[in-house]
Amino acid sequence: MLVLGIETSCDETGIALYDTDTGLLAHQLHSQIAMHAEYGGVVPELASRDHIRRVLPLTEACLKESGKQLSDLDAIAYTEGPGLAGALLVGASIANALGFALGKPVIPVHHLEGHLLSPLLATPAPQFPFIALLVSGGHSQLMAVRGVGQYELLGETVDDAAGEAFDKTAKLLGLSYPGGPALSRLAEQGSPERFTLPRPMLHSGDLDFSFSGLKTAVLTLVKQQTVLDDQTKADIARAFQDAIVDVLVKKSLSALKQTGMKQLVVAGGVGANKQLREQLNEAAARRKLQVYYPPLAFCTDNGAMIAFAGAQRLASANHDYRFAIKPRWDLSSLPAA
Ligand code: KG4
Ligand code: ZN
Repeated sequence: MLVLGIETSCDETGIALYDTDTGLLAHQLHSQIAMHAEYGGVVPELASRDHIRRVLPLTEACLKESGKQLSDLDAIAYTEGPGLAGALLVGASIANALGFALGKPVIPVHHLEGHLLSPLLATPAPQFPFIALLVSGGHSQLMAVRGVGQYELLGETVDDAAGEAFDKTAKLLGLSYPGGPALSRLAEQGSPERFTLPRPMLHSGDLDFSFSGLKTAVLTLVKQQTVLDDQTKADIARAFQDAIVDVLVKKSLSALKQTGMKQLVVAGGVGANKQLREQLNEAAARRKLQVYYPPLAFCTDNGAMIAFAGAQRLASANHDYRFAIKPRWDLSSLPAA
C-alpha cells in the first residue's frame, strides 16, 4: 500500500511517500526557519500561507523522485493535530481535497504519534514494548509504548517543554531562532566546570519534568556577569545543556527501571541533540539497555513520520472527507491500531 504523508503542523512542510512493502520511497521538506527568523519565532499566519505554497510542489517532487503518480496512491495521511490551527487546516484541507478528487481514503494522524513511531523508520528498529522519551518544541513526555496506539503517559513537563527551554534560553543568550541547534553548537565551545545550574525535579520521585526554572536560573546568571563575552556565553550554554541533559537521561533511566523495559526510543527535535545522544548511549551501554533514535533528518518535523504513522493506521482510513483539526490533542487518548 502506498501512503502519501502531509505534515503542516508548525513551521515545516514535510511530504513523503511510504510503501508498506518496500519502505520509504521519497521525502521532501521545506523549512520556514529563514522566513520566521527575522521575527524571532513562528508567525502563525505566515506559516499557514507558506504551507499553501509548498504542499503541492513538494508532493509533485516526491512523486517524481519515486517514479509514482497520484493515481498510484492508496491513501493520504495528514497531521490532524496538535499544532497551529491555520497550519493544520492547510494540510487537512489539501489531503481531503486530494482524497476526494482521487477517490482515495484519508488518514488523520496525531503529530506526536508520528514522532513516537519515527525511530521505527531506522534500522535496526526497536520492538514493542519500549519507553519513549518524546522531547519536542511543545512536549516533553515519557511514555510506555506497548504497541501502535497503546501509550501510557508516565511523566511529562509541568511547565515548559525541553525544546521550548532550549529556544528561550538561546534567546536570552542572543542566539537566533530556532535556538536549540544554535545553543547546542555554542555549548560545544563551553567549559563544563565554570558554572553549575540546578537540575529541576531530579529527585521529585516521579517522572515529571520542569524546565521553566532553569531558564530563570540562566537569566539570573546572565545578569550576574559583568562581562558577557563569547566564552562566558558558551560556558552558560554548556551549564544549561548539562543540566537539561542530566535530567532527561536520569528520568529516562528511571522509567526503564520502573517498568522493567530494556529499550528506550528518543523522538522529537531535542532528540537531535548530540550531548543528549552521547550521554544516553553511555548510560545505556553501562546497563545493557538499547537506545534508538530516528534517522537524524526525521528527528524534527517531517512528512516521513506522518506517512509511516498513517501506514500503521490504514484500518482507520476513511472516505468521509468531513475533516476537522485538533490543535490540542492528548496522545494517550488514541485508540489502539
Ligand atoms: O519536534 P520538533 O521539530 O517540533 C515540534 O513538534 O515541536 O522540535 C523542535 C524543537 C525546537 O524547540 C528546537 O529548538 C529543538 O527541537 N531542537 C534542538 C536541537 N534540534 C532541534 N534542541 C536541542 N538540540 C538540538 N540539536
Ligand atoms: Zn514535532
